[in-house]
Amino acid sequence: MRRQVIAANWKMNKVADEVEGFFEELASRQWSDGVECVIFPQALLAAAVSSQVRKWSDDRGFLSWGVQNVSAHPAGAFTGENSVAAAKSLGARWVLIGHSERRTLFGETDEILTQKVKLAEAQGLQVMLCVGETRAEREGGQTLSVVERQLKVALAGFEEVSSLAVAYEPVWAIGTGLAATGDQAQEVHAFIRQLLTKILGTTGGDVPILYGGSVKPENAKAFLGQPDVDGLLVGGASLEAASFAALVP
Ligand code: PGA
Repeated sequence: MRRQVIAANWKMNKVADEVEGFFEELASRQWSDGVECVIFPQALLAAAVSSQVRKWSDDRGFLSWGVQNVSAHPAGAFTGENSVAAAKSLGARWVLIGHSERRTLFGETDEILTQKVKLAEAQGLQVMLCVGETRAEREGGQTLSVVERQLKVALAGFEEVSSLAVAYEPVWAIGTGLAATGDQAQEVHAFIRQLLTKILGTTGGDVPILYGGSVKPENAKAFLGQPDVDGLLVGGASLEAASFAALVP
């Protein structure tokens, strides 16, 4: 059975004092066996989040955390960057790679992402790879070809299928309040699933595929009810523990 993953992308929000209360509230809720909750804080909050995840994790390992970005270099003279190895040493399980804000605001190309994916794989971290089209690309009928290019380039040479999740995040749906419909998400997710099988072999079909873009408690079921949607990547609605917990099945 495919894993279900519900992930919180806090982006550049929250300060250290807010972390403990979030986890206390989240951990007071119940959620189903087999669902993994992942928190992606900004790097400066990694230690605070790491210690909360250690405190509240049970032996199902249902709670984990990851970094929103890593350097494409393993170590060295790269002032201000954060390495995969340092993330791992703090207990990170995941690395978010290719978020559209990294691509558009920080100029990350598919090729840079390939390097990041390889580094994360080499360190044994789980990769959550984000893909998705802009509004103009959707209107131009290019959604599937854009997603195909992004996946093929970023996953060139990738072998550790069991450490991969893909997040389909249409750029026009991120932070706009205009989520995709369940059917729109399903169409792209089914395409991604087929493609993963082609790129990675039959086990590619087991990779969890998450939907992201203006997910909130009111629309989460429309996505999770689709056959090829295995989870959610949530920005705005993940900042409050109550609204994030309401998304977790
Ligand atoms: P949003 O962000 O839920 O606020 O739309 C999602 C994301 O950027 O991952």
